[in-house]
Amino acid sequence: MDKQNKITSIPNGPLHITGTLELVSSEGEVLEKTEELYLCRCGNSNSKPYCDGQHKQTGFLDDGKFVKPPASQEEVACVGVLEVKVQANGPLIFRGATCIEDTCRQRILRKVGGLCRCQHSDNRPFCDGTHSKIGFVAK
Ligand code: FES
Repeated sequence: MDKQNKITSIPNGPLHITGTLELVSSEGEVLEKTEELYLCRCGNSNSKPYCDGQHKQTGFLDDGKFVKPPASQEEVACVGVLEVKVQANGPLIFRGATCIEDTCRQRILRKVGGLCRCQHSDNRPFCDGTHSKIGFVAK
């Protein structure tokens, strides 16, 4: 049976993504196919898109709850390949059916979306475009 795709935010830490995953660089190179990823969402990792623990040094604070719980798209089985593509100077774009769950176990289902990796979105874990206003720079 296929593994369910799931995205969660670890409190004060990275995005934790599990499932049938394909991580793609901003240049379109497949970085890895795996079943588990820890990706930076504080914006300070020196190994972006991966978390390198910098959130502890910089005192990143985020409880991992949805800021504004969005409505789910239609019911989908969260299986199949979940592609996570790095957007230069912007979010992580995911494509593929996935469940996004916060630390209060609120769940939404999506097939596509953008995940904030600059820490300044007012709609975390989703990107709201703030990265361009603050001049976030990351490959
Ligand atoms: S990446 Fe943070 S608002 Fe877009």
